[in-house]
Parts: sequence; C-alpha cells; structure tokens
Amino acid sequence: MASDATAELAIYPGSFDPPTLGHLDLIERGRRIFPRLLVAVLRNAGKQALFTSGERVDMLREACAAMDRVEIAEFDGLLVDFAQERGAGALLRGIRAISDYEYEFQMAWMNRRMAPAVETVFMMPGEAFAYLSSRLVKEVAAGGRSVAGMVTPAVEARLRHKLHLA
Ligand code: PNS
Repeated sequence: MASDATAELAIYPGSFDPPTLGHLDLIERGRRIFPRLLVAVLRNAGKQALFTSGERVDMLREACAAMDRVEIAEFDGLLVDFAQERGAGALLRGIRAISDYEYEFQMAWMNRRMAPAVETVFMMPGEAFAYLSSRLVKEVAAGGRSVAGMVTPAVEARLRHKLHLA
C-alpha cells in the first residue's frame, strides 16, 4: 500500500443495484467528513444484478449531480487495488443493523490485511433507512408495489421500466 495515501479521498464502494435513498444519505454524510468522496460501483455485481454497471453509474451521477466533491466511477477486481490506484486513504461503508456487522467486519479485516494503510470507516445511515436494502427494493418493485421514499423518482421510473411495469 502506498504510504502517501491520505483520507483526503475516501472511496464508498458497493453494488448499488439500484442506489437507494440510504446510499444517498451515506454519501451526504461521507462528504461532510472527507474532502473528496469517490463512489465506486462494482462492475460485476453478480449474475443477479438487475442493472448494468453503466446504468448504476448513470443513476448515481443523476442523483449526485448537485453534490460537489462527489465523483462516481466503476471498478472491478479487488477494492484495495482500486483504492491504491486512486490514492484513497479510506473506505466508507454503511452499517445498518447488527446483522451487517459480520459481513462488514470480514471485509474490513481482509482489506486491512491486504492494505494496512487504507482505513475502513463505518457510518450509520439515517434511521429511516435502517432496514432499507437494494435487494428488498427490487423485490417490492417486482411485486408491483411503490418504492417511493426508498429510491429517487428517477430510479423508481427505471425500476418500473426494467421490470416491464411501465
Ligand atoms: O453493496 P455491496 O454488494 O455490499 O458491496 C460489496 C463490495 C462491492 C464492497 C465488495 O463486494 C467488494 O469490495 N468487492 C470487490 C472485490 C474485493 O475486493 N473483494 C475482497 C473484499 S474483502
């Protein structure tokens, strides 16, 4: 790991399939702490990904258009390698319920093992988003129910289109 990495730049990685208001809440919180925040979309987010990485990037760019110091990029391979390439000093992750801890700690320990200079920083989203996840949003939308208040109207429209509901 580059020894000159600083927390001037933090990376907020994820699948964002699709981005939710919980993700946007975390981006807002993250940008209050870090001078620059790079939202990094995992290119190959598994076979079950509903949206292409390009679509996920577009949705995030639309949603973050008014947020200065926030950039959106795609990555593949190891997150720590991407962080190293970009000179990021921190990885930002959202923790909702206790059930998130196990998975998040496994990743954070492994990432630290590979890149000790890159610090993982956990933040809590607002309470309203404590039980919100992209997976549940997709299920609710696929069932024909409204996901208003969980995603932006633009993302909701894309979901309806993708799921052939509109
Ligand atoms: O939104 P998600 O699906 O919870 O995000 C998971 C993500 C993208 C952060 C994680 O899967 C990841 O970092 N993938 C890249 C591959 C990698 O670095 N794996 C080792 C993690 S210890």
